[in-house]
Parts: sequence; C-alpha cells; structure tokens
Amino acid sequence: MSAHRARTFVSPVACSPYALAQSGQTVTAMQDEHAVSREAFLARGWCHFHHDPQLAQWVADTRDAARAAVRAAENAEWLRCGGTWFVGVNALPNNERGAVRGGAAVAGQAVEFIREALGLAQLVWDRAQVSVVYPGYPQPMATESAAAYRYRRERDAAHLDGVLRQGPRKRRHLCEHHAFILGIPMVETSRDASPLTLWEGSHEITRRTLQTAFAGVPPEDWQAIDITELYQSLRRRIFAECRRVEIAARPGEAYLVHRLALHGIMPWPTTATAGPDGRMIVYFRPDVGSAEQWLSMP
Ligand SMILES: [Fe+2]
Repeated sequence: MSAHRARTFVSPVACSPYALAQSGQTVTAMQDEHAVSREAFLARGWCHFHHDPQLAQWVADTRDAARAAVRAAENAEWLRCGGTWFVGVNALPNNERGAVRGGAAVAGQAVEFIREALGLAQLVWDRAQVSVVYPGYPQPMATESAAAYRYRRERDAAHLDGVLRQGPRKRRHLCEHHAFILGIPMVETSRDASPLTLWEGSHEITRRTLQTAFAGVPPEDWQAIDITELYQSLRRRIFAECRRVEIAARPGEAYLVHRLALHGIMPWPTTATAGPDGRMIVYFRPDVGSAEQWLSMP
C-alpha cells in the first residue's frame, strides 16, 4: 500500500451527516477499504474511487490535451491569484463521451457508479474544467477584496458550484445546475498540494435551506431570487456544524462530490511538492437539466 492510501481516518459506518458533524474538526482525506456505496456517498456528500486501469488509461490519453489547454493563449484569462491558480472552466476539448482527440471515452468504476448507483445512465459529458494550482496559492489579486482574500486563505474559498455573483452589485443567484463534480487527478503530487476540501454532510443542509427559501416559487424563477445573505449564513452554519475533509487522490483514482456540498481549495503549504504541471485536476460537471432536479435529486 502506498503512503497515499495508508491511513483510514473515518469509519465507513459513521455515515450520518449528523454523526459526522463536529464543529471545527478537520480530517485528512480518508480512503476506506470498502467498496463505494450509494448510501455512503449520499450520507457524506463525497466518495473516493481506488485506482482503476480504465481511468488511468484515460488520464494517460488526456494529459497532453490538458497541458495544451493550460498553455493555450485563448485560456490565458483563466490564470488567477497572482499566477497560482489556473481555473480552466470548460478548458478541456473533450467530446460528449469525455474523450479528447485520439483518446478513449472517460470510463471506470467512478463512471459506472454515476451511471448505475446515481441513475444517470444517459449522461452527456460537458467540456471538463482543468484546475491547476501552483506553489504559493493563493496570492492576492487586484480584483479580490481583502475580505475575499482572507476567506480564500482561511476558509479555502468554500463555495457551492452554480451559486454565482451577478450584476454590478455582485449579488448571489443560483445560475448553474451541475449534476455532480467528478475529480480526476492528472499528475502525481504530495497529498498536501492544495487538495479539494469539503464539508461532510453539508449537502443536506444546503438542500433544506434552499428548499425553504424557494418554497412556493416556480423553479424557473429561482434564478431571479437574491440569495446573497442566505448563502452567507448557510456557509457559516456549515462551518460550525460539519467536518472539513481534505480529499487527495492520485492519477488513476477519482473522487465524486455531491452537487450541493460546500467545497473549496486548500492553500498551498510550504511542505507541498509537485512537478512542473503543478496540482492538475480535471473536473467533469455535466448539467443536470433543471433547477428543480438540482435541488430534489438524491
Ligand atoms: Fe467548485
């Protein structure tokens, strides 16, 4: 067993979001030795998939295209935080099967889990995000307030995907409806090289909060509702009630994040190591179809 899989920190039976909710506690990523179960995923809001030869082949087929996307002039706008984060939303030129030119379709246990356990058999893959973090992340940027920078450093810039700032006043609205977030590491790094962080069980707090906020409003009108203050108080509640986990994985492995889970990126510590590609992770986030499904699906 490699050092990357050596420790199990969370009992696989402790799956209730309430059982896991302990204020202020941080846990380094767990990879339990049990098969991934739908129940565990739905309780925690995330799961990890061990090394899979099919996914490892996909990574090998796709890595050069991801590198080219990071270097491409048309993607230069995605470099943020003083050059320490390449955001790379939809930067990978993959087709609807998740394949880049000359490569295989994205496949393996994680994809089977999504199709079978989550019932998303008709999945059409979006153009994936290529998220790269470099040593020193995060550095301040002119477009970010001091408070936002502090939130990035101290709270991993924790957020819900799809709740975006809109308009000149930058108010928060539910704008995108991703079905899930599938993270696929593309290169080897140390475990502490800015892993994704996640607040376990937060997805069900999000669901109940937004179901209350949107009650009686047709789903097509949800995007018009300003949820700025609600979103801020939701994040505070999650920080107080849920355990933060750091989810590190290696090429050939993958992790799945529930679409309603609060998550972020850990700042790069001085101890972290990576090659010239930095910490490169590809994220698939296909659209779920409607706001109503986004909030009501398991
Ligand atoms: Fe995100």
